[in-house]
Amino acid sequence: MLEALVKQSVPLPASSKMLILGGGFSGQRVAALARKLGVQVICSRRDLTKVGADVIFNTNPEILPPLEALENVTHLLSCIPPSETGTDPVLTALLPQLKEMPLQWAGYLSTTGVYGDCQGEWVSEVSSPNPQQPRSQRRFACESAWLSSGLPVQIIRLPGIYGPGRSALESITSGKCTPIHKPGQIFSRIHIDDIAGATFHLIHLAAKGKKPRIVNVADNYPSTNIEVLYYAASLLGVTLPPVEAFAVAEKRMSPMALSFWQENRKVSNKMLCEEMGYSLLHPDYHSGLQDCLQAMGN
Ligand SMILES: NC(=O)c1ccc[n+]([C@@H]2O[C@H](COP(=O)([O-])OP(=O)(O)OC[C@H]3O[C@@H](n4cnc5c(N)ncnc54)[C@H](OP(=O)(O)O)[C@@H]3O)[C@@H](O)[C@H]2O)c1
Repeated sequence: MLEALVKQSVPLPASSKMLILGGGFSGQRVAALARKLGVQVICSRRDLTKVGADVIFNTNPEILPPLEALENVTHLLSCIPPSETGTDPVLTALLPQLKEMPLQWAGYLSTTGVYGDCQGEWVSEVSSPNPQQPRSQRRFACESAWLSSGLPVQIIRLPGIYGPGRSALESITSGKCTPIHKPGQIFSRIHIDDIAGATFHLIHLAAKGKKPRIVNVADNYPSTNIEVLYYAASLLGVTLPPVEAFAVAEKRMSPMALSFWQENRKVSNKMLCEEMGYSLLHPDYHSGLQDCLQAMGN
């Protein structure tokens, strides 16, 4: 759906140069949109043989991008998660260089995990962060480091990311998917097209002086894991295995998987969609999974 995104996105001024540090799943999509909009983009990965890698940036072991990649950068997006010790890889390795750039906007992709468990209630940008998982505590420390870095930072908090190649469709076709029922358990999610679209929307509004420090980028319809899987199965024309109770499933879950099921919240996108006027390309998983199916077919 890149064409639809291009139609609704405002290009950056001609002299702009965007540096995307961590061109993985989300970073690649933002880079693809930026290129379609005619923006000069440099994208880092840890290995030059990976798709879309223009330069290497790795903090473990440290390999810094070449100096010319860092010259005249006006827009920066970091998609790199915290280090295991809770420091931010980008700020640790590159802050002096970032401060030399003529930066107009610096985005940091964070997670809604910083809100912690909210027992199924709605959370918004004014909710007090209460990170309970160690990885969310590390993330919150990185958010704070970005906000106090002196750069023109905007934090973008994301729930579960999905899109072509990484969605409930692949969970089902991998044959490893079991629908799990935990009463009242809700997950929020966002399609990568809307991460890219919202990023450009936020950059555009920031240039006009509207720049909240933190924005949630989530779709309109937090929902159970089961309903998403049932819909994905209906798109694929397959039958799901029987539903398993969480009390049974949790016994064989990895600590990481278990940690996701221990937190329950609905992420509000009112600031993004109502106050800032962003129009979601995929307002719910129906539209998002149809897009994933189409990409799978292609
Ligand atoms: N996945 C989710 O559901 C989810 C939900 C909320 C928030 N988030 C966060 O949002 C951000 C984007 O998510 P994503 O799923 O698009 O991430 P992703 O595909 O895992 O991409 C992460 C990027 O960071 C790079 N990276 C990791 N460690 C690095 C290091 N030490 N030095 C340099 N580069 C490093 C990776 O390099 P390579 O390209 O070489 O692998 C990759 O480009 C991440 O910070 C993620 O933790 C993810």
